[in-house]
Amino acid sequence: MNERSDRMTTPWGERALTRFPEDPRDRLRAWDASDEYLLRHLADQEVPLSGTVVVVGDRWGALVTALAAHRPVQITDSHLAREATLANLARNGVAPGSVRLLTTQDPPPGRIDVLLVRVPKSLALLEDQLLRLAPAVHEGTVVVGTGMVKEIHTSTLALFERIIGPTRTSLAEKKARLVLSTPDPRRERPANPWPLSYALPEGIGALSGRTVVNHAGVFCADRLDIGTRFFLQHLPAGRGARQVVDLGCGNGVVGTAVALADPDAEVLFTDESFQAVASAEATYRANGVPGHAEFRVGDGLAGVPDASVDLVLNNPPFHSHQATTDATAWRMFTGAKRVLRPGGELWVVGNRHLGYHVKLRRLFGNSRLVASDHKFVVLKAVKR
Ligand SMILES: C[S@@+](CC[C@H](N)C(=O)[O-])C[C@H]1O[C@@H](n2cnc3c(N)ncnc32)[C@H](O)[C@@H]1O
Repeated sequence: MNERSDRMTTPWGERALTRFPEDPRDRLRAWDASDEYLLRHLADQEVPLSGTVVVVGDRWGALVTALAAHRPVQITDSHLAREATLANLARNGVAPGSVRLLTTQDPPPGRIDVLLVRVPKSLALLEDQLLRLAPAVHEGTVVVGTGMVKEIHTSTLALFERIIGPTRTSLAEKKARLVLSTPDPRRERPANPWPLSYALPEGIGALSGRTVVNHAGVFCADRLDIGTRFFLQHLPAGRGARQVVDLGCGNGVVGTAVALADPDAEVLFTDESFQAVASAEATYRANGVPGHAEFRVGDGLAGVPDASVDLVLNNPPFHSHQATTDATAWRMFTGAKRVLRPGGELWVVGNRHLGYHVKLRRLFGNSRLVASDHKFVVLKAVKR
């Protein structure tokens, strides 16, 4: 029996919370001690919550569900976090309109009275978010960051200090810590370096020497990932596939390479990160690719019709919101099998130790090694 409680205790009562997509085998809670610490701090310090309360990076909507009575604004980069938030609001009987849901790509609110930041894994995303939000912060804004001790580094505090104002940390409680900043609107803020473009190296096929655009927080935003590089060198490009999906597209280099080599290909770029899909579109446009493309934020291949695709390209994530898991890769492969036409192919790159060939064989009944080096494999599975 699952003994895990899905109820978070807050100063304003309990909230029932789960992650998204809901998985009964998933024993991970949808909140942690840093969410609880932040909420306790707001109550203990009697922080006025009557103005515009903005919550950034709320992992599964725990913070906005707890604060829903104050009509907070949530800003997230994650489609899964947004879906989790909607489900958790409904689970707790909160009308969806009580929380304004914004993405990292939307214009931020013009004035912020309380800024609550769940410190993200990516320092770049934190930098970008603080720089985008700082103009809306005024002298009286209460700014509180929160995270587990292991997620808050000197560099994290330096960003708050540089962009918001004088910053200190709280004592640790249950391995969580708060970041407390006092806004100094006179502070001269650095220019926002994001999005970042750079020229790709030679020797990677169709994209050699071309431009890639990265919004903050995107996978390997400041250099080409070595696994991606290996994939680009072994892509099935130039074979006339018509309907192609770049699944978990990140900055879009994989799909853009295929689109350049196959002008008749129609490429769907999809990712659960709003920053990623915006990057993919910018990379595609920066390279003047002929043909058609679609850019979609979503969970895996949800919404893509059955048996409609010739080729799926995938460099699967192996970390999901801090938890190492292969559940996402499995869901992506299952989705690929569903959307491929008979004879259609799924091409996957991965670290050899991840053993993706076992999964592919189980699902597709076949898996062929296309290329390998000491670290990576490119595998192909055909839908029969
Ligand atoms: C290893 S990166 C690969 C990025 C890019 N294709 C490359 O090769 O450089 C995996 C990508 O999968 C995305 N991702 C994670 N979970 C996802 C999901 N449930 N649905 C769609 N994309 C997801 C991540 O945001 C990330 O951009």
